[in-house]
Amino acid sequence: MDRNLALELVRVTEAAAINAARTMGRGDVHASDQAAVSAMRTAFQLMEIDGTIVIGEGELDEAPMLYIGEKVGRAAEGDEKVDIALDPLEGTGLCAYGRPGALAVVAMAKAGCFLHAPDMYMDKIATGSAGRDVIDITKTPTENVYNVAAAKGVTVEELTVVILDRSRHEDTIREVRAAGARIKLIQDGDVHAAIATCADETGIDLMLGIGGAPEGVLAAAALQCIGGGMQGQLVFKNDRERERAKKMMAGRDIYRVLTIDDLAHGDIVFAATGVTSGDMLRGVRFTHHGCETHSIAMRNKSGTVRHIEAKHVFNDKPNYSTEGFIVADEQVDPPD
Ligand code: FBP
Repeated sequence: MDRNLALELVRVTEAAAINAARTMGRGDVHASDQAAVSAMRTAFQLMEIDGTIVIGEGELDEAPMLYIGEKVGRAAEGDEKVDIALDPLEGTGLCAYGRPGALAVVAMAKAGCFLHAPDMYMDKIATGSAGRDVIDITKTPTENVYNVAAAKGVTVEELTVVILDRSRHEDTIREVRAAGARIKLIQDGDVHAAIATCADETGIDLMLGIGGAPEGVLAAAALQCIGGGMQGQLVFKNDRERERAKKMMAGRDIYRVLTIDDLAHGDIVFAATGVTSGDMLRGVRFTHHGCETHSIAMRNKSGTVRHIEAKHVFNDKPNYSTEGFIVADEQVDPPD
């Protein structure tokens, strides 16, 4: 990929984040998701790419927009074909209930560089550059906590581990507590948590536990750009999921440990914009004539990580309505 598409992608994640943020706290997860999806889809049509969604909102029969296999972008003759992994609103409930850490997120790479992860669970371990060579998903949480602490030059008691607050993690939580590490339990949003392990200012060192497999690919794409380490292993609820995984993994062992390169490799660009404020990114703030957003744009080829703080003026820029169309700003009469 010759252009730094990460900078262009930011406009796509900004559009989704701004539109989703309008629905914050309504308690309507469907409306929040829909707002993000429709704005992201509209914004994609302005990008000059020949894109195919490989991680998206679901299969065509489950998702009318941004579904797996959907083509996006204004493809012109000779444009390179790119695969796209996206989540217009990662942490739908976080946005719908005004909780921290919701993101709009997109990763892009040459065709074939992202694992076409099925919509099922994945066990994950993720950390920043200091610990990336010592994590091992086949080892116990205790061993990983000790190894990452040693690699980072801190005591186990100084290490902070992020875990999704789910009953399936009771044993992991108990073990990490017994090891003496600090724990941050999150309600949703393990993509944000995985990225946060790579930034010193977040104070987060390690992420452990089972979350969505598609989110695992997105997290791996981000960590490839920012220099972190990650491993995953698919987790199956039933035979139907096992069969589905076999099909999507094209004959490869569905139980094997997936390295970060298995999840995402090649020349990757990644962008994310905060919807609600989290450890790494601030959420959308609406102001008198527009709003402010905080995004990251990264590319693993250069290793550059850009934090982009943008002020959007709704009079001058497209305004994405909750239906996702670009609409002209309406003049609203002040109250009497
Ligand atoms: P949504 O954006 O689909 O709401 O997913 C949020 C999330 O918390 C992910 O970050 C995580 O990987 C997954 O859900 C965990 O799944 P579950 O809620 O079933 O435990």
